[in-house]
Amino acid sequence: TVLGIDSSTQSTKALLVDAETGRVLDERRAAHPAGTEVDPRAWLVAVDEAAGPLLEQADAVAVGGQQHGMVLLDEHGEVVRDALLWNDTRSAPQAATLVDELGGPAACAEAIGSVMVASFTASKLRWVAENEPASAARAARVLLPHDYVSWHLAAHGTEPFTDRGDASGTGYFATASSDWDRELLIRALGHDADLPRLPSAPGEAMAATASGAPIGAGTGDNMAAALGLSLGPGDVSVSIGTSGVCAMVSDARPADASGTVTGFADATGRFLPMTTTINAAKILDFGRALLGVDHDEFARLALASVPGAHGLTLLPYFDGERTPNRPDARATLHGLSTASSREDIARACVEGLLCSLADGIAPLEADSGRAPERIILIGGAAQSAAVRALAPAVFGRDVTLAPTGEYVALGAARQAAWALAATAEPPTWSLEGFETLHAAPTPDVLDAYQQLKARTEGWS
Ligand code: XUL
Repeated sequence: TVLGIDSSTQSTKALLVDAETGRVLDERRAAHPAGTEVDPRAWLVAVDEAAGPLLEQADAVAVGGQQHGMVLLDEHGEVVRDALLWNDTRSAPQAATLVDELGGPAACAEAIGSVMVASFTASKLRWVAENEPASAARAARVLLPHDYVSWHLAAHGTEPFTDRGDASGTGYFATASSDWDRELLIRALGHDADLPRLPSAPGEAMAATASGAPIGAGTGDNMAAALGLSLGPGDVSVSIGTSGVCAMVSDARPADASGTVTGFADATGRFLPMTTTINAAKILDFGRALLGVDHDEFARLALASVPGAHGLTLLPYFDGERTPNRPDARATLHGLSTASSREDIARACVEGLLCSLADGIAPLEADSGRAPERIILIGGAAQSAAVRALAPAVFGRDVTLAPTGEYVALGAARQAAWALAATAEPPTWSLEGFETLHAAPTPDVLDAYQQLKARTEGWS
């Protein structure tokens, strides 16, 4: 029996899982403060609440956590200031400065696998160094959210540890050598600091709990989800949640100088090139609230219209966008006539969401030079009947719908089982309940979207 923990932006989830089969035996969750800047000690309280009662039954444990968050500790291990999280954008200017200092986007992508953006830990360190020099001076140790939670679970006296997947989102980890880049850390923070220990092999047990259960290295939530889904080379996962995340397992190290694809490492020793959209499930929430209907009725309305929504096209960049990189954009609804109906508006929302995700899949395909064998749909909005019906139509190929599940916590559990087994490869868990979705392709829908996207280039 193993325990997988998901310490996410909104809450903490814990899954007790059978180590042989991957079957979920028990599940608990706890809320913790959400936002963009939080006291990281709140995560520990939530972990104790959610995982505490399950921990005694676990033979091994591992933690998946929100990527990128900056946890600053002093020389005594005390929190220096609130953690700045992945969704805190104040450090955008510092990210741009660091990219410049590294010699531009191509050099930055070569050094760390990605073009640094505000989400990355290094840009947050630079922000603190520039704006709160006293806090920067006190910082003796920098951890990621999942490292901080893993450390809390480890027996007293353990040194903090992390994995290369989450490390690759810091901005001071070289994906080519799979090691920390101290110079980049010093460049960001202004001085050296302790960084967590990295595993020598992905399935390594890094520490043990007070009762002797091995603790896996843990990883970032997107890497954990890929492990939970058993994502293999050739698979693309499309997660539609707070953000839209398209991810692909790859043997080749990505270095996309355009910044569209972030070249993270994964939790198995490979890479996890990813594209992220800022507007995802909220597009449907917006449409639903506008039309004053619930999710089921919204899906019914969308499916009652036709492909292309009688000429309505939505560019769903409501709160600015990252893919494409239009941070100051707003949404555009084009093609309204007096004959436009509620059904058409609902349809345009669902098609706009799916077209923006298609825009996230395409660069992964281009980067890897291969067509995805499977496109696997996960996340809250994959529950929508309209999303399920229209995804294969807009993507122009079959889509695999994953069974509903807590894939981040499940992936953490699979890593714990791996640490317990001490094998070269993670245990094979056969997930059941995948469904193939098929529909006649509607290429005109994506064409209309691309045309509108081109015409609105430069708008905000
Ligand atoms: C990835 C990213 C988010 C967070 C969410 O780059 O910023 O997906 O990992 O927790």
